[in-house]
Amino acid sequence: MHTLIQGYQVMISSNFCLYHKTHCAHFNVTGMFFQSLHKLFKDQYEDLWAAHDEYGENMRKLDAFVPCGFGDCTKHSVVDDCMPVTGATDMVRRLLMDHDRMIALLNRVFKLAEAEGKQDHMDFIAGRISAHGKQRWMLKASLESVAQMQPQVDAVIKL
Ligand SMILES: [Fe+2]
Repeated sequence: MHTLIQGYQVMISSNFCLYHKTHCAHFNVTGMFFQSLHKLFKDQYEDLWAAHDEYGENMRKLDAFVPCGFGDCTKHSVVDDCMPVTGATDMVRRLLMDHDRMIALLNRVFKLAEAEGKQDHMDFIAGRISAHGKQRWMLKASLESVAQMQPQVDAVIKL
């Protein structure tokens, strides 16, 4: 990844995989925190889906075409496309790690935009770093409550 266009290829692929994983978590989450996590995942996948359009349009502004095969996405993504149907804690933990991967990636691509003097792309990428930081915070805060309650939930289930 040496150019801003290459960076966009990785960012749009990774964002798409994270969108898909978050939407799957919205469908498949279970447990006593179902309602709040179902809603949180919805808010997050809607943001990621809206960002997908912005990534694509920004690539076109650079005269690059958007990779459209699912295979291209999984090949370039720093986020894997697997969201197993496990417990709520595991789902939140996986998404939390994915947002960390996205933030690290975006910081790298920001430097490429800076090196190429593309202020508008620097602004966009900075906005996405902020968005992932907010999503990360909400997942981390949710993880604490889910993890704290899990032993009590398990005990009730065993009764
Ligand atoms: Fe839904």
